[in-house]
Amino acid sequence: MNTVIQKFLKRSNTADTIFLIKTDSDLIDLKLSDLELEYIKKEHNAKNEIIEINKYKSRNYVVYSETKGADFDRLEVMRKNGHTTLSLLNKAKTEKVVVVSVNSSKEETLAFCEGVVLGNYQFLKYKTGDKNKPNSLNKIEINSSEITKQDINQFKILAEAVCYARDYVNEPDSYMTAVQLAEEAKSLGKTSGAKVEVFNKKKIESLKMGGLLAVNRGSIDPPTFTIFEWKPKKSINTKPYVFVGKGVVYDTGGLSLKPSNAMDTMKCDMAGAAAVIGAMYAIAKAKLPVHVIGLIPATDNRPDGNAYTPGDVVTMYDGSTVEVLNTDAEGRMILADALTYAKKYDPELVIDIATLTGAAARAIGPQAMVGMKVNSDSEFDKLKVSGDFVHERIVEFPMYEEYAEQLKSEIADMKNIGGIDAGAITAAKFLEHFTDYPYIHLDIAAPAFLSKANSYRPIGGTGIGVRLFYDFIKSKIDNLSSA
Ligand code: BES
Ligand code: ZN
Ligand code: ZN
Repeated sequence: MNTVIQKFLKRSNTADTIFLIKTDSDLIDLKLSDLELEYIKKEHNAKNEIIEINKYKSRNYVVYSETKGADFDRLEVMRKNGHTTLSLLNKAKTEKVVVVSVNSSKEETLAFCEGVVLGNYQFLKYKTGDKNKPNSLNKIEINSSEITKQDINQFKILAEAVCYARDYVNEPDSYMTAVQLAEEAKSLGKTSGAKVEVFNKKKIESLKMGGLLAVNRGSIDPPTFTIFEWKPKKSINTKPYVFVGKGVVYDTGGLSLKPSNAMDTMKCDMAGAAAVIGAMYAIAKAKLPVHVIGLIPATDNRPDGNAYTPGDVVTMYDGSTVEVLNTDAEGRMILADALTYAKKYDPELVIDIATLTGAAARAIGPQAMVGMKVNSDSEFDKLKVSGDFVHERIVEFPMYEEYAEQLKSEIADMKNIGGIDAGAITAAKFLEHFTDYPYIHLDIAAPAFLSKANSYRPIGGTGIGVRLFYDFIKSKIDNLSSA
C-alpha cells in the first residue's frame, strides 16, 4: 500500500486540507475569509462537488457530500468523492493531506478516506525507469474527534489487505504460481499472527484430492493446498467460519482451450484465493475474536501431454466420481475437494468465493457478484447487508433442485458441466454436492478484474471479497456487543 494513514497530530497553516461538509451552513466552521466563502458559494451548484481553494502556501478542498437515501448509498458517495478528490491532489503533486470531518459521521469520514487510499493504489512492479511513476500523495491524516487510533488501525489493516489481494491478482502467472500463492499466504500468516499450513503435491496425493490433482495434470508446476487459520484464545464462536477461495493461478481452459481473447485476463482466476488470503490477514491482524479458517486449493490449468481430458472420469476427494466434459470447468473440480476438506471442521458456515463462470459475468456484469445459498438463510441475509455496506454487492440466484438434473452423467456420479442454460447455477449445484453444512457460494467472475478503472476500483484486480468478509466477521462481534 502506498499511502500512510494516521490520526491528525498538530495543526499547521501550510498543510493541504480537505473539509468534509454537507451544506453551506457547515462553511461557518472552516475559518475562511469572506472572499473565499463568497467564491465557494458562487462555485457550488451540485450536491456532490469538490471546490478547490489555492491559498498560495497550501490548498483547501471543500467537499460537499449532500446525500440522502440509505446509509450504504451515502457511504459509497463518500468513497467516490474521496477518489475524485484524490485525482485533484495527485494533479497538484500533493504529498500529504489532512482530512477534517466538519459534519460527517465516523463511517462517512472513513469511507471518504477509503476512496482516497484504495483509489491511490498502483501496481508498478513491472514498470521500469521513468515509467515507474508513483502518485504524489503518500500520507493522509484524519482529523475527527469521533475516530479513535483503534479505528484508524483497523482501517489501515483492511486497506492493506485489499491492496495485497489486488497485487496477487495483478501479478502475472510467471511469478504467481501455486507455490508462490502459498508463500504469500505464509508471509501474511506470519505478520498477522495466524497459523498457515501448506500441503505440497505429495501430501495432496496421499489425501487423494482427485479434483485438484486432475486439473494439475497438465501443469509442470505442483499444486498447493493452503490452510490459513485464525483461532484466537477467546472466540465468540465454537464452530469455525470457513472461507474457500479458488486459486487457479492461470486458466488456459486446459485441453478445452479458451480462445485467446478469453484467455488474456486469466491470471485473475485466483482472485477468490486472493480475497480469502487478504480477508484472513485482516481478521487475524485486527485480532477479531472469531475462529475463522481459509482454505485455498491452487494450481494452473493447462493443456499438456498428461493433461486431464474431456471424457475422463475423476475420483474426487470425497470418493464420488465426475465425468469431465469440459476441462475449462476446472474451478469447481478444485473447489469441490476443498469443500469436502471443510467438513472436518464441523463448520458454522462455509463460504466459497471464485471467478467461476462466464455465465455469472454475463448475467450481471461487474456491478455485483452472484450469490447462492444452501441451508443458510439468515447468514446469507447478513452477508448481503455487509455487501451493501462495503459496496461489494450480492445478487441472489436460485438453487432449485431441478437445475441439478443437468449434471446427471451416464457413466459417473456427475458431469462437471450442465447445458447452455443457467451456467452459474449449475456450477453451484455441482459444488453443493460436496457440502453437508450451511453453505454460500459467491461467483466473482466479472467484478474481480476490471478492464477499465471504476472510481476507487482501479484497472486490473479489485480485491473484491476482502472488505465483504472482514465486515461480515466483524459484524458478528458488533451484533454480540449490541445485543
Ligand atoms: N475461469 C473461468 C470463468 C471466468 C470467465 C472467470 C470470465 C473470469 C472471467 C472458468 O474456469 C471457466 O472457464 N468457466 C467456464 C465453464 C464452462 C466450461 C461450463 C465458462 O464459464 O465458460
Ligand atoms: Zn476454466
Ligand atoms: Zn477458471
